[in-house]
Amino acid sequence: MPHPDLHFVHRGELVTLHHVPPTRTLLQLLRDDLGLTATKEGCNEGDCGACTVVLGERRDGRLHYNAVNSCIRLAHSIHGLALWTAQDLAAADGTLHPVQQALLANHASQCGFCTPGFAMSLFGLYQNQVCQGQRVSREQALDALSGNLCRCTGYRPILDAAQQMSSWPTVALNEADILAKLALLATPERALAPDVSYQSPTTLAELLALRAAQPQAQLVAGCTDVGLWVNKQHKDFAQVLDLTRVAELRQISSNEAHLSIGAAVTLTDAFAALEASRPALHAFAMRFAGAPVRNSGTLGGNVANGSPIGDSMPLLIALRARVELASVRGLRELPLESLYTGYRQNVMAADEVLSRIIVPQPAPGEFLRVYKVSKRLEDDISAVCLAVQLHLKEDQVAQASIGVGGVAATPVRARQTEAALRHQPWTPATVDEAMATLRGEFQPISDMRASSDYRRTVLGNLLQRLWRESQGEADVSLETLQA
Ligand SMILES: Cc1cc2nc3c(=O)[nH]c(=O)nc-3n(C[C@H](O)[C@H](O)[C@H](O)COP(=O)(O)OP(=O)(O)OC[C@H]3O[C@@H](n4cnc5c(N)ncnc54)[C@H](O)[C@@H]3O)c2cc1C
Ligand code: FES
Ligand code: FES
Repeated sequence: MPHPDLHFVHRGELVTLHHVPPTRTLLQLLRDDLGLTATKEGCNEGDCGACTVVLGERRDGRLHYNAVNSCIRLAHSIHGLALWTAQDLAAADGTLHPVQQALLANHASQCGFCTPGFAMSLFGLYQNQVCQGQRVSREQALDALSGNLCRCTGYRPILDAAQQMSSWPTVALNEADILAKLALLATPERALAPDVSYQSPTTLAELLALRAAQPQAQLVAGCTDVGLWVNKQHKDFAQVLDLTRVAELRQISSNEAHLSIGAAVTLTDAFAALEASRPALHAFAMRFAGAPVRNSGTLGGNVANGSPIGDSMPLLIALRARVELASVRGLRELPLESLYTGYRQNVMAADEVLSRIIVPQPAPGEFLRVYKVSKRLEDDISAVCLAVQLHLKEDQVAQASIGVGGVAATPVRARQTEAALRHQPWTPATVDEAMATLRGEFQPISDMRASSDYRRTVLGNLLQRLWRESQGEADVSLETLQA
């Protein structure tokens, strides 16, 4: 099967590459094919940020910049986008970019291996904040750098550099020119041809027709799970079907009853939409991977992949979200927890895709908490995740809805614990009863993240934490709770 041409904008110019195989990663393309070795390879699994590059995309008439991990991104996924690497920051005469000046002035690099990745995350922040006339807060700097690891410098000087980038005269890109070139790439003549090894349709109808005709093609979204299968399990797909350019799957809409999130909406945008009506979710959203993974990975990919330790599903189950599945045969909708039939298995037919996640809007009296317990606070996978939505009326639990991760082969709803809470007075005695029920409801396994006993114990503790927070206590630490 022929490989399609790959078109993107780099250094302000249109670039066309031929014969790029479907599972070639962007990092391989940069370093091995184009000799752009400033972009480094560290872990090759999205964890360290050494390979970070920035992608520019036309959205609402302007350029949006996203720092992403090039190691787990397929090369063809940058078709129609603008690309910047660490080699593109300094001016042609060698004058350093303000990002580089700030890193230098703050002594924010020692061995320097991580520095190109940090510089690119900072470049994304510079474009989105400083070039828009905004200051960079410490929190924004921490978030932007959440996917970059440094083993020797220490983070304080790097964070200081992030906040000082605006101290140098602003270096602005010629965005009008880049946007014009991106518009050229969006014309039908440049669209990916059919019957090629990498297909990236732009409408749902095209996607569903391809899915039905070629069910053997590997479906990918942000590739933050699939990229690891390619790099670590050495999977080589003859054909890839990329759904991230399908307009309908990238839409977010809402009405009084529901928030609808297209399956190809990135985790960054999906969490922003969820946070708009439930601001307390921000802290949880920041615990999901690091910013570059959230900028590539999609909500639909997390749900469809169905990992038992995936983080969005316990939350979505607690919120009573439904999923919409689409195929050439039509649409169907089901509760999210009914999607799963076993370990990474689901009810989706070979010609179906997950198209939307539909989340009920908060009702008055909602008390919502979601807790992620992992070995590291930053950029780590859950050992246990518990999401609880309560509706309290006159000190009674009118409704309880609980999603749990890390305790079974799939993300699950804690039905017995919900029943133990429903229509009960919201008192310590009810909570004690519910804690015991929750600890006994599942038989979690022991693995490298946590033992079975730990998982059961911590689940109950989290419920006690929720009780204390419902009584107005803030920041209840697990260490202060009874086992
Ligand atoms: C460093 C790192 C940290 C991570 N941290 C976390 C974390 O904290 N919490 C967490 O939950 N996950 C984490 N992940 C896992 C991953 O980022 C998420 O699961 C992400 O949401 C996957 O989305 P994606 O778009 O990248 O999916 P992809 O990798 O593109 O696809 C994953 C699977 O879903 C299928 N798929 C994708 N979209 C659809 C669709 N619309 N319809 C049908 N099937 C579809 C694909 O065919 C594939 O089988 C992490 C990953 C990395 C690399
Ligand atoms: S090489 Fe470590 S994140 Fe890509
Ligand atoms: S400077 Fe050495 S890893 Fe960051």
